Amino acid sequence: MGELRDRRILLGVSASIAAFKAVSLASELVKQEAIVDVIMTPNAARFVTPLSFEAIVHRPVILDLFAAADPTAHVSLGADADAYIVAPATADCIAGLALGLADDAVRTVALATRAPLLIAPAMETRMYEHPATRAHLATLRARGALILEPGTGRLASGRIGQGRMAEPSEILAALIRLLGRTRDLAGRCIVVTAGGTQEPIDPVRHISNRSSGKMGYAIAEAARDRGARVILISAPTAIAPPDGVELRRVTTALDMKTAVEEAVIGADALIMAAAVADYRVAAPAEQKIKRTGEEFVLRLVPNPDIIAGIRQPSLIKVGFAAETHDLVANARKKLEAKGLDFIVANDVSAPDSGFGSDTNRVTIIDRQGLEALPLLSKREVADRILDRIASLLRSRPADRPG
Ligand code: CTP
Repeated sequence: MGELRDRRILLGVSASIAAFKAVSLASELVKQEAIVDVIMTPNAARFVTPLSFEAIVHRPVILDLFAAADPTAHVSLGADADAYIVAPATADCIAGLALGLADDAVRTVALATRAPLLIAPAMETRMYEHPATRAHLATLRARGALILEPGTGRLASGRIGQGRMAEPSEILAALIRLLGRTRDLAGRCIVVTAGGTQEPIDPVRHISNRSSGKMGYAIAEAARDRGARVILISAPTAIAPPDGVELRRVTTALDMKTAVEEAVIGADALIMAAAVADYRVAAPAEQKIKRTGEEFVLRLVPNPDIIAGIRQPSLIKVGFAAETHDLVANARKKLEAKGLDFIVANDVSAPDSGFGSDTNRVTIIDRQGLEALPLLSKREVADRILDRIASLLRSRPADRPG
């Protein structure tokens, strides 16, 4: 049976020479038994004829919404879709998608649907690297679109560079991964920590770090969408907590430790995305410390390592390693020292992966090896982490009572 049986997939095709690869993609989708509606821009039809797609998907191609028999075709197509793939997506198409323009059928349907959007850019390297294109892609990523990075190779101009549309097989694999996530964590309980702990100095001051909490919140949201019961233990952050998760607010590392110990009882996984302060002030002052003009020495004592201290058989433990140097070696040490199932390492000195950013470039490390992921939205990183957890849970039969 096809992996996409009866799934309704929209395929938007814009004007790039890579449109011919979209024909093979349509064919792959049909082989997997998806119901495929193809939407083309008028200029895309100069590269590949609508008939090429119609012969494969056995449904009329939408080229001009004004010519469609149903004047609200964009609404009905959008409402029923399980996913919308735009492949190839030209620089112009991407700009319009980011801005929410509705000047052709491909973009109008993108506005009218709430189905997940997969975008496969195809263009010359300079256009791909242009700050305008980068900014539009960042906007789309932050809105939850999955960007399938183009490959490097020979381009239409004859130059070698990045800009070749992802292969149909890669796009198909990404789609199957995305759709397979639907409620695969139903009945599971996932504990997530987020934010940077605050360690008081006196009633008005504290020691903290630059963690924004975005990564942990994205994980909580993704786990919720996949059907899990989610307990989010959050140190103070400036972002709104997702609906539908159990939020437990904490301030210090010691508060977080107590909350984690309680939450993991009966849980399936613990994901420690929080940046926990390694030290706390030995004796916080009860009253505001006054300025004297003299040198001031603060005595710090170590905080316990929260995740290392959790030893609950069958609980999947996932840690993060925020590093500025020797990423893999440092992360491997933490994997072992803290008894983790896997660790998500990121270089926080990189501008697109550091604290506060909406994207992250991480390497996932376990005892089998490592997987370096490309630059992804924090939501997509969250889903990649949850994909691993879902697969570990499948391979470990539940051995807990109840
Ligand atoms: N962690 C924890 N308790 C602590 C410190 C860290 O549970 N007291 C968790 C973090 O949430 C993260 C992982 O351990 O998942 C690694 O955190 P990190 O700050 O990178 O490592 P440390 O062990 O604190 O080492 P260092 O600060 O020396 O890099």
